[in-house]
Amino acid sequence: MLDFLKSKKPVEARKTVAAPSVVTPVLGPVSKPDLLSVEDAKAMSVEKMTDLFKTHYNPGQLHFMKLLGFHKIKIERAEGMFYYDQNGRAILDFFGGFGSLAMGHNNPRIIAARKKFQDEQRHEIAMAFMSQYATALAHNIAAVSPGDLDMVFLGSSGSEAMEAALKVCERAAGPDRSMVLFAENSFHGKTKGVLSYTDGPLYKGEFKLLENGVKVPFGDIDAIEAAFKAHPEIGTVCLETIQGGGGINTAPAEFWQKLRALCDKYDVLWLADEVQCGVGRTGRFYAFEHYGVVPDVTAIAKSLGGGKCAMAAMIARTEIYMKAYGTPKTALIHAAATFGGIGEGCITAMETINALYEDNLINNAAETGAYLKSELERLQAKYPDIIKDVRGQGLMVGLEFQDFSQTLPAVMRPAVAMLDDKLKGSLSGFMGALLLRDHDVLVAFTEYNRNVVRLLPPLVCTKENVDQLIGAMDKMMSKGVVMIVKDFIAAQVIEKKAKGNKAA
Ligand SMILES: Cc1ncc(COP(=O)(O)O)c(C=O)c1O
Repeated sequence: MLDFLKSKKPVEARKTVAAPSVVTPVLGPVSKPDLLSVEDAKAMSVEKMTDLFKTHYNPGQLHFMKLLGFHKIKIERAEGMFYYDQNGRAILDFFGGFGSLAMGHNNPRIIAARKKFQDEQRHEIAMAFMSQYATALAHNIAAVSPGDLDMVFLGSSGSEAMEAALKVCERAAGPDRSMVLFAENSFHGKTKGVLSYTDGPLYKGEFKLLENGVKVPFGDIDAIEAAFKAHPEIGTVCLETIQGGGGINTAPAEFWQKLRALCDKYDVLWLADEVQCGVGRTGRFYAFEHYGVVPDVTAIAKSLGGGKCAMAAMIARTEIYMKAYGTPKTALIHAAATFGGIGEGCITAMETINALYEDNLINNAAETGAYLKSELERLQAKYPDIIKDVRGQGLMVGLEFQDFSQTLPAVMRPAVAMLDDKLKGSLSGFMGALLLRDHDVLVAFTEYNRNVVRLLPPLVCTKENVDQLIGAMDKMMSKGVVMIVKDFIAAQVIEKKAKGNKAA
């Protein structure tokens, strides 16, 4: 400790430099900054909202909203299948919050359960004491999960549930088997762990990510077996059962059955990401149920929150969970985070799961989904030059448009090329923008395949809602591709002119 005394440095050099004097500010009482109230937010104008979005939220994203014409809309209210904007316009929601609105907007059953819970002054944070709500929800999730998928971890987002899933797999597989096999065009979330197995340069953003991933084409069983043979360190296969961000990509039952068998043979854990396709969307609680196989670990989120809050769950086979966290020594390695098992979130998820069965929503997803698909196929037969493919399961449907960048008349190409890269060569952006502008219908775009429109409506969707969507699409497509593109470009020109006039 007194080593410095032995230092051969001259005494002068050993002197400590005096720290600059720190002036502690004299603080007066706290005064309220210029804050907006909740009522201010509700009453905010579109102009003010745009200004705040630009200044404090995401200026770059505003660019895309303007391009698609979404920036003029302020939603005042939402109910069932519809949003209602500042002008009282009803917008039919086939976007469904990327699959987070199975119960529809403001489902009265969900609202009533939440109100009652609040009125009774129930407790929320589930850390000091055991929670009757968290444990009851865990019971219900285990009850709807096949096989021995019986151990439940509760969180708030799909990313958090997927992180928990990857961690339970890694601990159960062991330190020598920490490699993860994932698929091309996968999307598993944006936190850094799951981002490592998300296949998109857009999201990866040149971050330093985990380097233990092995990527194969989605649905390619031979590639998976080859990877297992080449990398015995692979302990987990992480796959969406239906790829959402990849453009609603499915694999046949045979693939999933072979995957189960391969995982058993090579002692690899199968992690099924059901964040987008789960919670009843495909006509079964889990999409993998269609294939008669059970994964080792799965994750759900989005609609689990009943469209009113953020809830997510990781579900593991008991044996896997116990291997990972089954002793007092390991139990706290990945126990719930601060808001894991939050009271109102748990009762909302419980009410959601009960309602999915009691209100026939899962069966409706199968029935109305089949109707939606058949109607889209009818449109495809009518407009083969516009629609390339219709695919999906239940109320998770993808509509792929023909890539028209090469087929448009040469004179139009420069104008189209001037549009943003995101839209160039794809009809889906044009279609989506015009469906909203002219037909009051909202659809979702797709991250990796810009030719695909995603349809993920609430599971309360009726055949009449489908007819409205199909009618709108039919009307639009009957104009032909050239008119659709012209319409879109004209709207952009008018918008630019209006902006120029305003500036002048
Ligand atoms: C398949 C899949 N996994 C994980 C996630 C991440 O969920 P979250 O956005 O709630 O973090 C998503 C989100 O879209 C998803 O679609």
